[in-house]
Amino acid sequence: MKITIIGGGNIGSVLGKKWAAAGHEVFFAVRNPSDPKYQELVTIGMVGAIPAMVEQGAIVLLALPGQAVPDFVNEHKDLLTGKVIFDSTNDTKADSFHHYADIKKIIPDVLYVRAFNTLGWENFEQPVIGWQTMDLFYCAPAEAKKDADRLITDTGLQPVYVGGLDQIEVVDNLTRLWFTLVFQQGYNRHTALKLLTE
Ligand SMILES: NC(=O)c1ccc[n+]([C@@H]2O[C@H](COP(=O)([O-])OP(=O)(O)OC[C@H]3O[C@@H](n4cnc5c(N)ncnc54)[C@H](OP(=O)(O)O)[C@@H]3O)[C@@H](O)[C@H]2O)c1
Repeated sequence: MKITIIGGGNIGSVLGKKWAAAGHEVFFAVRNPSDPKYQELVTIGMVGAIPAMVEQGAIVLLALPGQAVPDFVNEHKDLLTGKVIFDSTNDTKADSFHHYADIKKIIPDVLYVRAFNTLGWENFEQPVIGWQTMDLFYCAPAEAKKDADRLITDTGLQPVYVGGLDQIEVVDNLTRLWFTLVFQQGYNRHTALKLLTE
């Protein structure tokens, strides 16, 4: 698959590395491609200016600060239309961690997946503890489920489908739980939640 990642920070670089290793073509869309901090990303995929890189991917992962999402989508709406948008961002200072409603207003027929936002990036880098594979809880419309399952599996995590986009708050509450465990209860960042069922 051709995947454009918006942002080359913790989340963008780790997921890009995993997807490239799984055989996907990865494009990093960044504001300043010549910034030395992005030099290492060249070994993973193409690094370039936002419009040129957004054009490349059929999948677009948002991995920029959450508060920047509405303006970003508005500015690039023409190029983003028709792409499957994976949203890993958390706008932690706002009431809602996600900006799905804003995105939908800008791109009414957007195909949107809420995923990769519930765990710290270290867990995407090393998704196994002992013999156990971490779970990644996500939600998406049914037509995006196949792509989502594949991209989650390709990072080494086990996808757990929570349902359609009416479940966004349920997924985001798992982020809140992770924050509480790690930032208030002293669990280390290499911590994930596991679904057990018969
Ligand atoms: N860190 C985690 O463990 C984690 C886990 C789950 C979800 N998330 C979420 O994932 C997102 C990314 O987190 P991160 O830790 O990867 O952040 P980060 O390391 O700070 O990287 C952010 C990236 O976004 C770019 N960026 C900033 N403002 C932008 C804008 N207006 N337009 C386009 N690109 C912009 C930055 O590039 P410049 O060099 O141009 O500033 C940088 O490449 C956040 O929304 C965060 O809440 C983070």
